[in-house]
Amino acid sequence: MITTEVPAEVRDRMVLGLDVGGLAEAEAIARRVAPWFGVVKVGHELYAEAGPIAFDRMHDLGFRVFCDLKLHDIPNTVERAARVHARHGVDFMNAHAAGGEAMLRAFVAGAHEGANDVGARAPVTLAVTVLTSEPDASAFDERLAVARLAGCDGVVCSALEASRAGAVGLRAMVPGIRLAGSDDNDQARVATPGAAVAAGADWIVVARAVTAAEDPEAAAATAAGEVAAAIARS
Ligand code: C5P
Repeated sequence: MITTEVPAEVRDRMVLGLDVGGLAEAEAIARRVAPWFGVVKVGHELYAEAGPIAFDRMHDLGFRVFCDLKLHDIPNTVERAARVHARHGVDFMNAHAAGGEAMLRAFVAGAHEGANDVGARAPVTLAVTVLTSEPDASAFDERLAVARLAGCDGVVCSALEASRAGAVGLRAMVPGIRLAGSDDNDQARVATPGAAVAAGADWIVVARAVTAAEDPEAAAATAAGEVAAAIARS
């Protein structure tokens, strides 16, 4: 059953992955499922098409914004890019932990400088550990350690590793979310919304499970219902 009475503590943990072709389509789907999602994620596809105006539009619609551009370059380039992205007042940003400690430190510094430049609150800085499309997550612990040393606020990881992030005081942003019985697509390390939150996810990223659903509102309501139940059980 679809309900629009979604508690803030549930919406705040629901991140909508806007992997769609353009801003009009992104705005349309974001508006439809706004009752269940407090955060939207702008990744490469939408950013390549629309640019940073996508951040502004989503802020205007009342969402917090995750800039999912997974920075990975030499430290100087990453710091400068992070600074410019952060000047848009984004709420979450990420960079690849595989880039190493110096690069992640530069990422965190740039994110803070950019927010400071515009008087915005510093974004939550996340290190991407092992892509959820990779079946082998053996590099996770080393990348988690690097993220912690570099001063990141948290990591992007699958539900299978989320509790290990929490154990060292880092937050966990968890993609690879699938509703029970749905297609894994290209993802390898997947979990349902309820299982991910029970396993320690602070936020879950839900993209195709909602954006490609026949009934996005029903899919969003199912995901949010599972998150609410998992929070209630914790
Ligand atoms: O459609 P689906 O839910 O599989 O999309 C997952 C989203 O999360 C994609 O936008 C992908 O880029 C992102 N992501 C991921 N694995 C990571 C980091 C980000 O799938 N480790």
